[in-house]
Amino acid sequence: MANTLEDDHGRAVTGVRVSLTDRCNFDCIYCHNEGLGDTRGPMDPQDAEMGTDDVVRFLEVVSEYGVDSVKLTGGEPMLRGDLEEIIRRTPDSMEVSMTTNGTFMPGRAEQLRDAGLERVNVSQDALDPESFKEVTQSGAYEQVLEGVRAAVDAGLDPVKLNMVVFEHTAGYVEEMVDHVAENDGLQLQLIEYMPELTGRPDWNIDISRVHNWLADIADDIEHREMHDRKRYWVNGGMVEIVDPVENEGFCANCGRVRVTHEGYLKGCLNRNDDLQSMGSMSRQQIAETFESVVANRVPYYGEYLVENDDGAYEINDKYLRAATADDWQSAMPTPISAITRG
Ligand code: 5AD
Repeated sequence: MANTLEDDHGRAVTGVRVSLTDRCNFDCIYCHNEGLGDTRGPMDPQDAEMGTDDVVRFLEVVSEYGVDSVKLTGGEPMLRGDLEEIIRRTPDSMEVSMTTNGTFMPGRAEQLRDAGLERVNVSQDALDPESFKEVTQSGAYEQVLEGVRAAVDAGLDPVKLNMVVFEHTAGYVEEMVDHVAENDGLQLQLIEYMPELTGRPDWNIDISRVHNWLADIADDIEHREMHDRKRYWVNGGMVEIVDPVENEGFCANCGRVRVTHEGYLKGCLNRNDDLQSMGSMSRQQIAETFESVVANRVPYYGEYLVENDDGAYEINDKYLRAATADDWQSAMPTPISAITRG
């Protein structure tokens, strides 16, 4: 077995995040769509989506490089009928988790567990139907609650509730913290709103306020180096904050490579200038492409973007020059300020 791959910044790649589709039955107003921006199309199956064998082949190749976890995501991954098959055929050396909106979980959670799914993240941004609808553009609030229950009952552990903290949801953090404290099997993952690919920087809120508030009420705090995350225990419930924005420590610890629903390898959530298509490659070619994507990875904050004298982040000259000189993978990087979803 080949050794784990490390990039030039000492970051070992140990996890992959595979988008199985960009179709979704929700239309969350904050969604960065796995770093691709607003690509959501019709709900019908799309030809360009990776097939079952493509996904499994990729997972088999990277398991040879010591990648020991895969997160399946979307769009909404449960729109794929072959989800159980993909999970079943994932190499045993890899832990399988999934991020879902939860609506299709009732009646399917046990099947997923039996196929080998270990844990799940369910996006739940609010605790009442009105605000839920405002954020997700969907009336499926009750189905999501049912989905969360089904996941817990099936023994998926942990079931993490993903809550994106931004202007529309910040007021509901407190009741979500109480909610996970009161319900066994649930954990709360507060995710800092990432404005990079949504075009609404004005929805941002200062996540340090949430840190400070939690630090005040927490019985215990743990700092996990992996992803530079902090965990707070409040009344027996666990709350984690994921705050990647302008966080060099977060990027410095990122060990994850992504795959888009169309089978492009992607070294960084926030970049689309480094995509490499796996198309209908052989295992050997996939292995080589994976190696080159890892070799080209750089931390987004702190290396690809650097702070200027005014304290604002801008693209490191080095990468601008590389793009102009045409020796970089593809298109010119898009400055943050120019990325909007229209
Ligand atoms: N900022 C932060 N998190 C986001 N997610 C999607 N878009 C954003 C964004 N702009 C997260 C949500 C969802 C997961 C798939 O991605 O938490 O649960």
